[in-house]
Amino acid sequence: MSRAETIHLAADISFLHTDYLWRMPGSWIGYPYYGSSEFYEDIARIADRGVMDMLFFGDTGGTSEDYGGNHEAVVRYGAKWPRHDMTPMIPLMAKAAPGVGFALTLSTTYHHPFHCARLFNALDHVTRGRIAWNAVTSAYKNEAANYGFDEMMDHDERYVRADEFLQVAFKLWDSIEPDALILDRERGIYADPKKVHRIDHRGRYFNVRGPLPALPSPQQRPVVIQAGLSGPGMKLAATYAELQFSTRRTLASMKQHRQALDAALAAAGRKPRDIGILWSIRIQVADSDAHAAEQERRYLESIPPEAGLVEMSAQYGVDFSTAKPGMRLSDFADEVRAQKGNLGSFEELLKTIDPNQSLKEFAHRFLVDRILTAAGTPTKIADTLEELHHETGANGGFILGRGYSAPDNIREFVDYVVPELQRRGLAKKKYAGPTLRENLNG
Ligand SMILES: Cc1cc2nc3c(=O)[nH]c(=O)nc-3n(C[C@H](O)[C@H](O)[C@H](O)COP(=O)(O)O)c2cc1C
Repeated sequence: MSRAETIHLAADISFLHTDYLWRMPGSWIGYPYYGSSEFYEDIARIADRGVMDMLFFGDTGGTSEDYGGNHEAVVRYGAKWPRHDMTPMIPLMAKAAPGVGFALTLSTTYHHPFHCARLFNALDHVTRGRIAWNAVTSAYKNEAANYGFDEMMDHDERYVRADEFLQVAFKLWDSIEPDALILDRERGIYADPKKVHRIDHRGRYFNVRGPLPALPSPQQRPVVIQAGLSGPGMKLAATYAELQFSTRRTLASMKQHRQALDAALAAAGRKPRDIGILWSIRIQVADSDAHAAEQERRYLESIPPEAGLVEMSAQYGVDFSTAKPGMRLSDFADEVRAQKGNLGSFEELLKTIDPNQSLKEFAHRFLVDRILTAAGTPTKIADTLEELHHETGANGGFILGRGYSAPDNIREFVDYVVPELQRRGLAKKKYAGPTLRENLNG
C-alpha cells in the first residue's frame, strides 16, 4: 500500500535497550533505564516532528540458549535480551504524539487469532486508527519451549498455521460492519444485529464462531505487515499484507526481491501498489564521511568480539561458539538450514557477503553489516535513499534499524536528513490523514 511515490519513514525501536545500543553515546541519557515510558514517549514526539509514518516493536518471547547451550552469554551481553511486552507502551506513545503510527509484533505460531483480532481492534481504537500488526511466524527454540513445544514447528507448517490465523483474524475484523453502531437513545437501539455476523470458521488449527464482540475500529483492521523472506513468507505477504519489511543488503538484491514480490502479488490477483516495502537500513548521520566512519568504529569497539557470534546464534539457532579459526559462514549453512529458522535472511547473507571473510571477522560486524547502511552527511544519506527508492520502484520507504541509538541518533535523522528529503519533495511535510493507512498511502 503505497499509492504515492513518497519515501515512507519508520524506525525499528525493538532493541534500543539491548544489543549494545544501550551503551552508545547519547543513548538513554537523562532517562530512567527501560522501566518507564518517558523515553518511548519522547521518541514518539521526535518521530512525529519528522512526520515519520511508523515506530515498530519487534518481538520474540524467549531467552536464547543457542550459544554454548545456555543463556549465560545472552544475559551477560544483553543480546536481544530482555524482551518485554511492549503493548502497554503504545497507548502512552500514541497519546504523546498524535500523527505517528505504531507496529506491534504478535506471533501467528503461538497465539490465537481471536485474541489477536480483539487486541488489535482495541489498539486501533485507542490509537485512533494508527496501529499495524507485524504478523510473524516464530523461528526461535526457547520461545517454542515457553509456549509448550518440545520441538519447534516445521518452517513450512508455521506458514500453514499463519495462513489460517490471518484468514480467521480478517473474518473477525469483517464480522462487524463499519456502520453497525446506532446509539438511538429514543428507540433504545444500541447497534444493528444485521450488521454483526458470526464467522463459523472450522479449520485445521482453529475453530472460531464469532462475531468479534467489539465495535468497528477506525481502520476496521490493522495495517498488516509481513516480514518472512522465504518462498512461503512471500506468498503469505502477497495474500494478506499491505506492507512488507525486508532486509536485503544490496541494490541488486532489493530489485530481485521487489520483482519476486510483484510476481507473488500477480499470482494472488493483486497489484504491485497493494504492498509497499520498508527496507531495513542503518543510518549513520555525521558532518563528514570521516566522522561517520569514526562513529562506526566507536560503536564496533563497544561490542565484544564474542557478542557478534552470540547474536548470530540467537538469530539462526546454531551454536557458533563451536566455530574454529578460519571457518566461514558457509561452513554453517547446512546446520542453519536444518534449524528451519530465519532461512530467508541467512540465504541473503550467504549471497551478498564476501565469501572469503572468516566467520569471526563477519560476526564482529554482524550487528552493523546484516542490513544496508547509509552513512555520512545528510545530503549523502538523502542521495542514497533517493537512489535506492527510485531504483526499486518508489513503492514503500525505509525503516531505520540496528546500530543507531536513541534518542540522539533518531533526533539527528529527523533534524538533518528528513528536512533534506522534504526539500527534495521525497518525504511528507505533514501527515496525510488521521489513520496510519492513509499516511502510508499519502
Ligand atoms: C525486518 C524483519 C523483522 C522481523 N521481525 C520479527 C519479529 O519481531 N519477531 C519474530 O519472531 N520474527 C521476526 N522476523 C522474522 C520473520 O517474520 C520470519 O519469521 C523469519 O524471517 C523466518 O521466516 P522466513 O524463513 O520466511 O524468512 C522479522 C524478519 C524481518 C526480515
